[in-house]
Amino acid sequence: MKAFWDRKEKPYVLIVFLLPFLWMLGSLLMGQYFPDPGKLLMRLSGIWACVFVAAALSVTPLMKIKRFNWLVRYRRFVGLSAFFYSMLHLVIYLLLFAGLSWRWIRSDLVEKPYIYAGVFALLVLLALAITSTKKMMKRLGRNWKRLHRLIYLATIAIVLHLWWQVKGDTSLAVIFTVVFVMLLGLRLISNRKKLKKTIVSATI
Ligand code: HEM
Repeated sequence: MKAFWDRKEKPYVLIVFLLPFLWMLGSLLMGQYFPDPGKLLMRLSGIWACVFVAAALSVTPLMKIKRFNWLVRYRRFVGLSAFFYSMLHLVIYLLLFAGLSWRWIRSDLVEKPYIYAGVFALLVLLALAITSTKKMMKRLGRNWKRLHRLIYLATIAIVLHLWWQVKGDTSLAVIFTVVFVMLLGLRLISNRKKLKKTIVSATI
């Protein structure tokens, strides 16, 4: 019964997570982003990638509250959405910014070193997406948790990516830094509590 419910529910959940993408695609096709669609789409895809990274970091602390237990069902979807919107951000960069010219990308990398921080975060998200299946979880055992802790490093890289490119307006960098610092802080506190508990139970 539960499996049937999950299967029935999944397409709707998928549509919800795809809504920002569908909205961007629709606006692009209706010509709303012209004359410079690349610039705006780059910003929007980056913002949605950050939103889903923040959502992925929120799931575990929220699940500690009984009322939000059901979130466990969507944890993988949220993480995969963070990866999806980051990939979209990269595809927009390659197509609309670079026009698939490797020579252009090489000179852009010299001008914009913050791209390396973005690439690092994306590679981490890729590794987490590949290992997000139940099969991989079993295969990696204890190392799965260790690997998935890389999300903290990816988040720091994203903050770096945002601040490094600031020219005038800092609002986006400030908003996401505050959100990420709060979420990473929550994780740190909860990990410390867990460590204390294991030390206490080991000494009893
Ligand atoms: C291969 C990886 C990445 C590349 C090549 C890349 C490249 C870029 C570039 C070139 C810009 C500036 C666009 C402009 O000049 O208007 C930018 C902005 C942005 N990126 Fe990335 N990025 C990458 C990964 C990421 C990731 C993983 C995230 C978040 C999860 C992210 C979030 C953002 C955001 C929010 C902005 C907009 C910042 C603003 O307008 O203030 N990027 N990225």
